[in-house]
Amino acid sequence: MNIKKIMSKMTLEEKASLLSGSDFWHTKSVERLGIPQMMMSDGPHGLRKQRVDDENAGVNESIKSVCFPTACTLACSFDRDLIYRMGQAIGNECQAENVGVILGPGANIKRSPLCGRNFEYFSEDPFLASNIAASHIKGVQSKKIGTSLKHFAANNQENRRMSVSEEIDERTLNEIYLAAFEGAVRDAKPYTLMCSYNRINGTYSSENKRLLTDILRNKWGFEGLVMSDWGAVNQRPKGVAAGLDLEMPSSGGVNDAKIVEAVKKGTLSEEDVNLCCERVLTMVDNYYSGRDENAVWDKDADHALAVEIAAQSMVLLKNDDRILPLSKKSKVAFIGKFAAEPRFQGSGSSHINAFKVSDALSAAEKYADISYAQGYVTEDDKIDTALINEAVELAQNSDVAVVFAGLTDLFESEGFDRSHMGMPECQNELIRRVAAVQPNTVVVLHNGSPVEMPWIENVKGILETYLGGQGVGEAVCEILFGKVNPSGKLAETFPKKLSDNPSYLSFPGEGDYVRYSEGIFVGYRYYDFKEMDVLFPFGYGLSYTTFAYSDLKLYAKNITDKDTLTVSVTVRNTGHVAGREVVQLYVRDVESSVIRPVKELKGFEKIELAPGESKVIVFNLDRRAFAFYSDKTHDWFVESGDFEIMIGSSSRDIKLSQMIHVESSDRFPFVCTPNTTMGDIFKLKNGHKYLEKFVKNFADNLDTESDNEVLGAATKLMMEAQLRDNPLRVMVSFSDGNITHEDVEEICKKINAELCGKLDN
Ligand code: BGC
Repeated sequence: MNIKKIMSKMTLEEKASLLSGSDFWHTKSVERLGIPQMMMSDGPHGLRKQRVDDENAGVNESIKSVCFPTACTLACSFDRDLIYRMGQAIGNECQAENVGVILGPGANIKRSPLCGRNFEYFSEDPFLASNIAASHIKGVQSKKIGTSLKHFAANNQENRRMSVSEEIDERTLNEIYLAAFEGAVRDAKPYTLMCSYNRINGTYSSENKRLLTDILRNKWGFEGLVMSDWGAVNQRPKGVAAGLDLEMPSSGGVNDAKIVEAVKKGTLSEEDVNLCCERVLTMVDNYYSGRDENAVWDKDADHALAVEIAAQSMVLLKNDDRILPLSKKSKVAFIGKFAAEPRFQGSGSSHINAFKVSDALSAAEKYADISYAQGYVTEDDKIDTALINEAVELAQNSDVAVVFAGLTDLFESEGFDRSHMGMPECQNELIRRVAAVQPNTVVVLHNGSPVEMPWIENVKGILETYLGGQGVGEAVCEILFGKVNPSGKLAETFPKKLSDNPSYLSFPGEGDYVRYSEGIFVGYRYYDFKEMDVLFPFGYGLSYTTFAYSDLKLYAKNITDKDTLTVSVTVRNTGHVAGREVVQLYVRDVESSVIRPVKELKGFEKIELAPGESKVIVFNLDRRAFAFYSDKTHDWFVESGDFEIMIGSSSRDIKLSQMIHVESSDRFPFVCTPNTTMGDIFKLKNGHKYLEKFVKNFADNLDTESDNEVLGAATKLMMEAQLRDNPLRVMVSFSDGNITHEDVEEICKKINAELCGKLDN
C-alpha cells in the first residue's frame, strides 16, 4: 500500500471514519481506495476469535481454539523462551484464522490481590512483567501478527474501571506502573497498544497526551498505533490530539463526525487526524504485507505446548516429608470437583473456547489407580455435608489425599474485584476435614491470584497451578507423579492476610478516586521494607532437587553509570533428579537521598541442570539496574555510591552478594533560594566555603552550656540540627543584624552562577 498516495486522495470525512472500528472486531475498509478491513481478536492467552457468522454471539462463543495458561501462570515460569514459543503458536493461529492483531498481553501491575483481573496480568514487579510481556510480544510478532499491549495504564482494579481516577505520584507512576510497559515497548516494539478505561490523576487515558504521546512516543520511541479499550473513548477529538489513533469498537459514525466538526471549527488540527489515519493504514498494511495465506495450525501440537508451559510454570509451595512426587504404588484419592472439571482460565473478554480440556482425573489414569470424590459444589458456596462426608471416608481409606481446590468464577472475574482474599468456605471446610483424617494431604490450587490458606499447617503439600490453561490436568499429573520437576516461582507475594497488603487502606478507593498511598512500595518492595512475615515470598518455589550457588563474580569494582556491569554465578544441581532453577538477581542501593526498596529484581535466568551438573549464569546490568525515577529531573536517575548485588533463589532466600561502587554523571537540577536549607548547601562540593560567615556567626551565638550534662548534649544536637535544617533566610533572624537579606541573596547568586543550576551530588 502506498500510504502517502492513498491519503492524498482521501477526504477529511474518509480519514476521520478510518479512526474507529466498523464493528466489534474490524477496522473499516474504503473500497474506492482499495483499503481492506483487518480483524482483531482477544487474547491474550489464546485466540478468542468471535464467530463472525453470528453477530449476537456472546463473550463465550468464539471459535474453538487452544487455551494456553493465563498470564498469572505464565509469569511464574520466569522463562522467556517458553513464553516466546507460546507467542509463536498464537501468532501462527492468527495467520491461519486471518486475524491481524491479537489483543494482549496485559502488563498491568498487581497492586492488590483483590483486582478481579489479576489473572490476566503478570506480576507485582515491573521488571518481571515487562520481560515476560516482551517475550510474548516478540513470539506473536515473529509471525507478522500484531499485539496490543494493554491496558495502558494503571488499570489496577475493576471497580469503576471506566470512571475511576488513579491518583499516583510521578515517581510511583513511572517507577512501577509505567515501567512494566516501558521495558516491553522498548524491547519488543509491539505493533499496537491499548489504552486503559480509567483516568490517571484526573485525565482519561484515552485523551492523555502526556501518556500517549509525550511518554509513549517521544520518550520511549513507540512507533505503532494506540487503540482505545472497548468503549474507553471520552471526548474523541481530544483523543485524536492526544495520540489515540483508533477508537474501538465503533460509535456508528457519531465520534467520527465529532472529529470532522472539530477540524472544521479549528479546535483540532487536520495534521493530528492525518497522523492517526496513517497509523491505522500502516497497521492494516503491515498485516497484509506479512500475510501467510498458507498458514495452518495444528491444534494437538499447540495443546501439547499448552501442557508443557503449564508444567513449567506451576509453583510447588509446600512439600513436607517429600510427600511429592507421589509413589505410583500408593492408593491415591483425588478429591474436589476441580479434579474432574478444572478451572483453567478466568472469565470475561479473555475467555477462550478451548477445543479440549485435560482434567487431572482422566490424565492420572496412566500413572496410578485413582479414586475420586467430588467434595464440594461450584455453583455457590454452600457446604454440602454429604459430599464432604463421602470425601472424608475416601481419604481415610487411601494412602494420600489430593484435594483440588481454588476459586470459582463467582469469586474472580473481569469486571468486578474480589471482596476478600478467602477461598470458598465449602472448600476450606473440605480441606480441614480431609486433613484431619489423612496426614498425607496435598492441595492443588486453581486460582487467579493469592488466597488465604487457613489450613496450611494441616497439609503436607501445596501445588499452585494458578489458571493453567486447557492442559492443566496433564501438567498437574506430570508434576504429582514426578514426570516433570516443578520449577515455577511466584511472580507475586502471597501475604498472610489481606490487611497485610500495602494497598489495603486505599483499595478500591473512595467513589471515583483511589490514592496509591503506598507509593512505590508495591508487593515485596513493601513486605521487605516492613520486615513482614508473608505466606510465600516473591520469587519462591520448590523443586524435587536442590541447587548450590557459588562463585559470584562482579567483573569490576567500580563502574560509571554509562558502563555495563557483568555478573556471573555458578549454580549446581546437588540432587538426584534433573531440574530447572530460576536464578534471580536483586539490587540494593546502600545509601540514597530518596527512600528506596530494600531490594529490586533486576535480572533473572532460568536454567536446566542434570544431577551433578553446574552452569555459569551471566547477567549484564546497565544504568537502569541502579536507577530510580526522580520527580526532580523527570527521568531515571543514578546516584553515586555503593550498591549490593544479590543473587537469590527467591526474594527471601539470598544466597550470595557483593558490593559495587557506581560513579554517576547524573546531577539534580539545583537552584539556591533564600529558602534552601544550609544542610543542602553543605552537601555541595566545597559547600562549606559559601557559608563560612553564617556558620561562624551561629557558633559565636551558640551557648550549649548547662549544668545538666544530658541537657547540654541534647541542646548541642538540637543546634546542629538547626544549622543543617534552617533555610538561609532564618539566619538573618538569629544574627543580631550581622547577616542581612542582601548577604543571603549574594550567596544564592554565587552558588547558582558557579554550579550552573546543577547539584554536584
Ligand atoms: C477489555 C479488553 C478487551 C476488550 C475487547 C475490554 O472490555 O478490557 O481487555 O481486549 O474488551 O474484548
